[in-house]
Amino acid sequence: MVSSEHGGLFGTGERGVFRRTLPPPEQTQERRLTRVLGLWQLTLVGVGAIIGAGIFSLAGAVAKEMAGPAVLVSFLVAGAASLCAAFAYAEFSGMVPRAGSSYTYGSAVLGELVGWVIGWDLLLEYTAIVAAVSIGMSGYVGYLLDTVGVHLPAWMLGAPGTGAGHKVDLIAALICVGVAWLLNRGTRTSARVDVVLTTIKILVVLLVVVVGLMQVRSANLTPFAPFGFGGAFAGAATVFFAVFGYDALSTAAEESVQARRHLPKAMMYSLAISMVLYVLACVVLTGMVHYTQIDPSGGFSAAFRTVGLGGVGAVVAVGAVLGIVTVSFSFMLGASRLWYALSRDGLMPRWFGELHPRRRVPHRATWIIGAASAVLAGVLPVQEAAQLTNIGVLFAFVIVSAAVVVIRYRRPDLPRGFRCPGMPVVPLLGVAFSVWLMSFLTAETWLRLGGWLLLGLVVYVVYGYRNTRRVLPGGSVDLADLSRLAGSDAALQPAPAAVESTTTKD
Ligand code: ALA
Repeated sequence: MVSSEHGGLFGTGERGVFRRTLPPPEQTQERRLTRVLGLWQLTLVGVGAIIGAGIFSLAGAVAKEMAGPAVLVSFLVAGAASLCAAFAYAEFSGMVPRAGSSYTYGSAVLGELVGWVIGWDLLLEYTAIVAAVSIGMSGYVGYLLDTVGVHLPAWMLGAPGTGAGHKVDLIAALICVGVAWLLNRGTRTSARVDVVLTTIKILVVLLVVVVGLMQVRSANLTPFAPFGFGGAFAGAATVFFAVFGYDALSTAAEESVQARRHLPKAMMYSLAISMVLYVLACVVLTGMVHYTQIDPSGGFSAAFRTVGLGGVGAVVAVGAVLGIVTVSFSFMLGASRLWYALSRDGLMPRWFGELHPRRRVPHRATWIIGAASAVLAGVLPVQEAAQLTNIGVLFAFVIVSAAVVVIRYRRPDLPRGFRCPGMPVVPLLGVAFSVWLMSFLTAETWLRLGGWLLLGLVVYVVYGYRNTRRVLPGGSVDLADLSRLAGSDAALQPAPAAVESTTTKD
């Protein structure tokens, strides 16, 4: 539907940068999948994307350097901030259960330029997530190799500054390239495989909690906040990495039996389950060993070895690697599909998003993301990669939380499977919380985000603005298209057998 009443470059009309654009529904469909996932399976997929390097690696690093045992408080603060934004994501996912990307939400509600900024921001964020989780995995792989007597040279064990003789985290970089290679061969973990791997991951965390609680010594928990509560709050801005991931849940929408109703609930439940596990795991980690003695790379496994339970440490390491790899897969897939979507919509040259003729995957985008994440993983300490991610995620949270208020008042009539409670206070709290957490991030992290966004603006001015309508004839669409794009659950019946490739992922 064309809307041309607000003309001018900064208007919402056809030539304005705030024109509201959405890809036509048929362009947003990936290969069609059978709808098999109920609420609890969806919740597990959500937990699968949330629990990863954040708890397995960052908890230890933050406890040691920023918060001490009060890392628990860091997790609670980050969790509260994430919950406010989760309500906003849940409302959107109940409105647009198929093309549920922040990029799509932003374009539809706040206009093309905002959508582009979010999409560009998410590209950096997803690439940095892949880097951070690969660093986390590398720590546990290193622990396992060490356990079986393989001692790698120090230069390849970590980024410069993370340990004596460290020059590059080669294992982490290789993991990034390996994941890109697998994705380009068309490998996918279906939501079902995700469910199995996530179940293993949850069992491992439960093992940590049950066995670890018996090893907790109260002396280790004092002083509780050796860096003061300021340290714990600053730590929250880093462990924030651990408390998102449900925003990627919308990719499972096509496999869900009742996406519009179940997706929002699954987001809430997966965050709640993860938070309970995080709190218990933090008590265990800082209660088993004094925070000064925590080994940040293989945190939990090393803690078990310290208390004489090396066998449990090895099991935990295997579980951590298996558990974290799902996060790495899903976010690299997300980044490449997002890039595909940006190219498809004309915001970036089509060359990047072209599909491999046989494997039907956006191979160029995947290789570029694989290479970029490998470089980041090789040279950045895990905290810095996490902070780079967090600033991008928090920025997207600000926009999505604001957008949910705008659309609630602008289009109260659109069908919603979930309504964010406490409107507009809760989403505005989400905005405030996110900005507050961003304020703890280092100047370097801000500069990296600023530089990236500036580059994005240049790309938009030089390329995107002129080319969008090549693929979106007719210019702006009306917000009612959100609803049409979503369809109803009745319309989302089991689809005919597998068609081909491409989608946006959150
Ligand atoms: N929340 C995800 C993790 O902790 C990104 O790995």
